[in-house]
Amino acid sequence: MLRSFGVLAILAHASGFALAPTAAPAVSRPLAPRMAPLMRAANEMDEGIFSFNKAVIDTVYDFICLIYNKNDLTKHSIEECTSRFYVLETVARVPYFSYLSVMHLKETFGSRVPGDKERMRTHYAEADNELHHLLIMEALGGNNSAVDRTLAQTMAFGYYWYVAVVYFFNEQAAYHLSELIEDHAFNTYDKFLSVNEAKLKTMPVPAIAKKYYEQENPFLFDLFCTVKEPEENPFTLASRPTLESLYDVFVNVRNDEREHWKTLCNLVQFEDMAGLGGKVISTKAAPPQLAGAAAATGDNSSY
Ligand SMILES: [Fe+2]
Ligand SMILES: [Fe+2]
Repeated sequence: MLRSFGVLAILAHASGFALAPTAAPAVSRPLAPRMAPLMRAANEMDEGIFSFNKAVIDTVYDFICLIYNKNDLTKHSIEECTSRFYVLETVARVPYFSYLSVMHLKETFGSRVPGDKERMRTHYAEADNELHHLLIMEALGGNNSAVDRTLAQTMAFGYYWYVAVVYFFNEQAAYHLSELIEDHAFNTYDKFLSVNEAKLKTMPVPAIAKKYYEQENPFLFDLFCTVKEPEENPFTLASRPTLESLYDVFVNVRNDEREHWKTLCNLVQFEDMAGLGGKVISTKAAPPQLAGAAAATGDNSSY
């Protein structure tokens, strides 16, 4: 027990956190004012970390897509098509739990950073949202195979610890990992919707989707939608489809992924969850010799 505490003490010291209980902030994270994303340039990322994150996420994503390559409901069953989503959702929701775990630990060590309470609530709402994506995929039979369950849960267990360690030492790098995952998630569901629109519109809505999207109090839902959209934008919460078919369920899931992506982009670039709807863009890497310039690598997607 003492040895464990000693290890935690070393980690806390290395990251700049005090172990002694204190009412004063143990660390001063420069919190951006609420309107900051409108007024200041985005933080760029160290090119080495950016490239490493991209390599890790792209490799894992490509590996999953190589194994789970069934995407056409005219050729494969809904169980076969959603097994990939089951694996992706199992892994993709883990980072929010990692962030919460580390923030909770830092609170225990005396950290009282303004804004962290709100951020923890949003990460819980995001985790809850991802849980419901997972429950929908399970309701569709995506978890029928013991092999799939074992693979997904093993990856999730390892990824939880990886993100927790990264987040402890470098929040920006940890948020960027999830920004990349959420970008993949949006595009994956978007493609599934376009390939299978006709078939999905003939399929029923799972009960868990009706319960989550239509019957439950949208309080948590509002908590994770931190970047509000202009009214004319088709991605506003008000323009979400009512659930007539499975197609509408996947539209909601896809749009949720976009909300996660926007929030993460703002956390990576501005250390703030809020942003300007319609103006969020993917994080750019800054090569060391060009730091501060507009040079960029990686994808330039914006939604
Ligand atoms: Fe999801
Ligand atoms: Fe997500």
